[in-house]
Amino acid sequence: MTPHRPRPKLSWSSTAQKRRVARGLDLVEERLTGVAAEYPGELGDACRVTLSAGGKRVRPLLTLLCARRGEAAGEPVLRGAAAVELLHMATLVHDDVLDRAELRRGRPTVAHRYGASVAVSAGNFLLARAFSELVGAGVPAAVDLLSATAVGLSEGEVLQRAEAHDVNVGIEAYLRRCERKTADLFSAACALGALLSGAPEAAGAVGEYGRLIGLAFQVFDDILDFSGDQETTGKRPGTDVRDGTITLPLIYALEVRPELAEVLRRPAPADADVDAVLHAVIETGALERARGDALRYIEDARSVLSTCPDTVERGLLGQVAEQVVDRYS
Ligand code: IPE
Ligand code: IPE
Ligand code: MG
Ligand code: MG
Repeated sequence: MTPHRPRPKLSWSSTAQKRRVARGLDLVEERLTGVAAEYPGELGDACRVTLSAGGKRVRPLLTLLCARRGEAAGEPVLRGAAAVELLHMATLVHDDVLDRAELRRGRPTVAHRYGASVAVSAGNFLLARAFSELVGAGVPAAVDLLSATAVGLSEGEVLQRAEAHDVNVGIEAYLRRCERKTADLFSAACALGALLSGAPEAAGAVGEYGRLIGLAFQVFDDILDFSGDQETTGKRPGTDVRDGTITLPLIYALEVRPELAEVLRRPAPADADVDAVLHAVIETGALERARGDALRYIEDARSVLSTCPDTVERGLLGQVAEQVVDRYS
């Protein structure tokens, strides 16, 4: 089965630049494959399946692009990029248990295929390996940053569960959750590139750029739960509606169609009712409104980028920002 790889399409300023980034991504991939190959049995299979299914690898790309420009990524940066993707994969495997999701990267989720206990253990293994990968870079501040991010991620997931089916959830609560579960990891991915390439002075600004595109990324992911097709996203549409996750499109749609609350409060709505909510939300124009918000975060990210030092790949980071909304299409 071919991997699900909707990668960003970048225009390069030189073939040397293209080769450098491609080589960095290949080396990160080798590290990830090495980690997944380590573990025996069903749990190891679960990790290998998750890895080989693909994924956009946008977070390790950001780490590479925020490292010192014009030189091959050194081992600390490669370790940081691999650690960020391992933490991301760990959270996806756990997230699919919590969200009862069936499809990820175009394949059955670990939870769906092997059961929740294998998924919990596989996620724990990936999480532990993320940190051992990073420790080898020898920069304690980087470990502190990723650790704080992982703690925030789990808080974000807990908030999401606590707020499930709560149709009174407002925009502030939604954004707080997105910051913790998504934006902070984007921010860390960027800051780690700076910290691990000996350019700590760039970490603050690139971290803020990452936070803003991370917010836009999550808003757009939440839009895709309504409008995305399974082929492209690799995920089953309507997963958020089915498990009562009240996202920005739903918050906006509920303002004009409060009666949708009834289905959203149900613990296990029927497929036909989920479909009806998906259609109703699209008809309200809530997706366009949410997309407008995501685009404003991207605009802010681009302004922050213009303040970043010239040590980072600003041109390529600008292209990634552009493609976060309307993902790589
Ligand atoms: C999915 O992230 C989780 C969210 C933050 C929405 P990605 O969309 O980056 O997942 P992969 O790595 O490409 O599968
Ligand atoms: C993603 O939230 C955040 C994570 C920490 C995994 P979602 O629940 O929206 O992500 P998907 O849609 O399952 O990829
Ligand atoms: Mg999910
Ligand atoms: Mg989602």
